[in-house]
Amino acid sequence: MKVLIRGRRRHFRTVEFDARRNEVLLIEQRLLPHQFKVVRIPDFQATARAIRDMVVRGAGAIGATAAFGLAQGVLAFKGADLASFLRRADKVYETLKSARPTAVDPVNAMKQVLAAMEQGSSVVEKQELALLAAEQFAEEDVAHCRAIGGHGAKLIQDGARILTHCNAGWLAFVDVGSATAPIYAAQEQGRKFHVFCDETRPRSQGATLTAWELAQQGVSHQIIADNAAGHLMQRGEIDLVIVGSDRTLGRTGEVANKIGTYTKAVLAKRHKIPFYVAIPLSTIDWNLKNGFDIPIEERDEEEVLGAWGVNGRRRREYVRVANPGSGARNPGFDVTPAELITGIITPVGIFKPRELWRRRKELVFPG
Ligand code: MRU
Repeated sequence: MKVLIRGRRRHFRTVEFDARRNEVLLIEQRLLPHQFKVVRIPDFQATARAIRDMVVRGAGAIGATAAFGLAQGVLAFKGADLASFLRRADKVYETLKSARPTAVDPVNAMKQVLAAMEQGSSVVEKQELALLAAEQFAEEDVAHCRAIGGHGAKLIQDGARILTHCNAGWLAFVDVGSATAPIYAAQEQGRKFHVFCDETRPRSQGATLTAWELAQQGVSHQIIADNAAGHLMQRGEIDLVIVGSDRTLGRTGEVANKIGTYTKAVLAKRHKIPFYVAIPLSTIDWNLKNGFDIPIEERDEEEVLGAWGVNGRRRREYVRVANPGSGARNPGFDVTPAELITGIITPVGIFKPRELWRRRKELVFPG
């Protein structure tokens, strides 16, 4: 997407790779919306830390980062011994996989890289194939998001009021975004509409990232407190909900997404408001049979007990809000059951959640 920096519009991707220097390039998302900065990540351990510490976040973006991180780790290997090379690849894979557990995209992305590497017979060939496969994942991510926009734009009528949760925008992918793809496509088609961004405590991805993106894109929007959606729905002020997902179960149609998504789906059902989930194919998990088996990340309690902002000297600062001495519980994601979801917007069309398994041949990744 294009970003306006010091009066100039420039195109950026959330995740890129500098093959000459073997570095991953990331937009430092913890500084947004106050500062726009691209950081260079020098090795796979630092890439794993960047995922864990949320320099980069969002399912597709951490998928691409993990794919490039795996390529980065194997490209740094010196020598020709295949057995030690494969041990190294395994270590890099495990390190990146463990950085964040709920999103399935990093695993799907890295499996695509590992499968490509199998076609090579020497270390050098495998290294080249790893980089090509990581680049291919990033390109597919962009193409999938654009295709989601193509299918989802028709859901947005002129004058629609849309609710979205967290950030499933271009910052959560390599470009374009999943939940935002129909929004950007409808805007290109000349429709006028308004987006309510859930603030999305505790890390406020809606208030900071989605609002920043929509402002950059010139989309009419307002931030609402997480607790405000029910009130707006009851007063007939929301026509449509579109969210992203970190893992969607192909067998059951259950959707893991940022904490608070389930609550919004229950409210949407109560008020008969269509509730859509937008996903690229890399977000589908074809193995798990039950949403309760999805690993839900439990994050540090400081996220709930306080908040980050920018102080008078433009420095990022944490302030404690909660009662001193009180602790907190901080599950990062929840699981929305299939019966609360109107449709899943994919790059190949819009499906009922329980249709995914029957239509799996069309939805298989890489696709
Ligand atoms: O903790 P995050 O910011 O990495 O959470 C992921 C998300 O951004 C959301 O859950 C999003 O809706 C799905 S990712 C496309």
